[in-house]
Amino acid sequence: MRTTVGIIGAGPAGLLLARLLHNAGIDSVVLESRDRTYVERRQRAGILEQGTVDVLRGAGAGERMDREGLRHDGIELRFDRRRHRVDFPALTGGRSVMVYAQTEVCKDLIALQIEEGGPLLFETEALAVEGADTDRPRVRFRREGAEDVLECDYVVGCDGFWGVARSAVPDGRTFERTYPFSWLGILADVAPSHDELVYARHDRGFALLSMRSPSVSRLYLQVPADTDADSWSDEEIWDELERRFETDDDWSLRRGPITQKSVTPMRSYVHEPMRHGRLFLAGDAAHIVPPTGAKGLNLAVGDVVTFARALAHRTATGSDDLLDAYSATCLRRVWQAERFSYDMTTLLHTAPDATPFEGRLQLARLDRITSSRAAETDLAEAYTGFPIG
Ligand code: FAD
Ligand code: DHB
Repeated sequence: MRTTVGIIGAGPAGLLLARLLHNAGIDSVVLESRDRTYVERRQRAGILEQGTVDVLRGAGAGERMDREGLRHDGIELRFDRRRHRVDFPALTGGRSVMVYAQTEVCKDLIALQIEEGGPLLFETEALAVEGADTDRPRVRFRREGAEDVLECDYVVGCDGFWGVARSAVPDGRTFERTYPFSWLGILADVAPSHDELVYARHDRGFALLSMRSPSVSRLYLQVPADTDADSWSDEEIWDELERRFETDDDWSLRRGPITQKSVTPMRSYVHEPMRHGRLFLAGDAAHIVPPTGAKGLNLAVGDVVTFARALAHRTATGSDDLLDAYSATCLRRVWQAERFSYDMTTLLHTAPDATPFEGRLQLARLDRITSSRAAETDLAEAYTGFPIG
């Protein structure tokens, strides 16, 4: 098999890249190790930055998002039993975010790819990328028990943190931090208890209230690293959420049947460079952020937009300039998201060895954000997204 761009992985990065290339008249083949149902049901991100929303619309993949997604003009910060709303449009010259689940973004992009795009091969596992420093890189893969080779002009590794592409970038440097806590995430069949997201800092740990629709809530609790999701009963989860969201007014948490529970570890990770020869890394294959800043999917979108633009530029002009700048262009935005995600994580979580001094510092940082327009604007600009490119 032969194609212009071999894409490994059909998460948001790989699927959107295939769509962008298709729109630019460049052919591609997507290899995905899992089956379609698995990819469409994997519960993850929920928040799309303004720039991501614009990209999906521009790619012709925004129709259902615009119908069913929920535009959010702010978030609430909750601490010390107090509530403070951050008003995004007022602080950023009109920007907002969209609540539209990653599952739905993937479903929309898969449907478009199957209808209009090139091959999208599920249950096809990439085994290795070979010849990245030649002008004919190859992806060796296994499908229906047999090994085969995809010959390409370019390979883009969109295969997430556990993929194989990164190992074909020699002499890379990694920058990493793990955190001594995880998130226990639940989906519940109950109307969200607030119409915007609530990020809560509490001595007992962080809690986040989010949503998937007007009738489905998505909530997260900070739990110790290595927690088994089933070690928490439904009642224990609701009781703990109620404590961490406590306020001095009459706000209350609505409870409902929990339909899914899972634990996500927290990690910061960057691999530099994001390119070796004709192999490019995009999304979680190159970098991970802790989820507190809602940045992972949005970074993946930025990477593939940057790659698609660079390749279209090469096709139009014959110049490799933008492809050569790919890694540096992406990394600048990646490090801003790393910084913001780290700041949000350390602002809101209680580390197991945290001292009372650190607790007071968190409250002082929150006091600053909620009383200085400059500090609040900094948060609003970062949350609604850094420019791509
Ligand atoms: P992935 O989604 O990991 O996709 C990689 C794909 O490659 C997968 O389908 C995988 O099966 C496939 N693959 C792997 N290895 C191979 C192989 N060898 N051969 C073929 N295929 C392979 N981000 C946000 O922006 N906002 C949020 O609100 C947010 N919340 C989050 C909440 C949670 C609980 C979690 C876990 C993550 C959250 N994220 C959020 C992060 C976001 O989900 C990821 O950053 C995003 O999925 C990255 O997309 P990707 O396409 O790069 O990688
Ligand atoms: C969601 C996840 C996040 O990491 C976040 O910061 C906000 C919302 C969500 O899944 O809805």
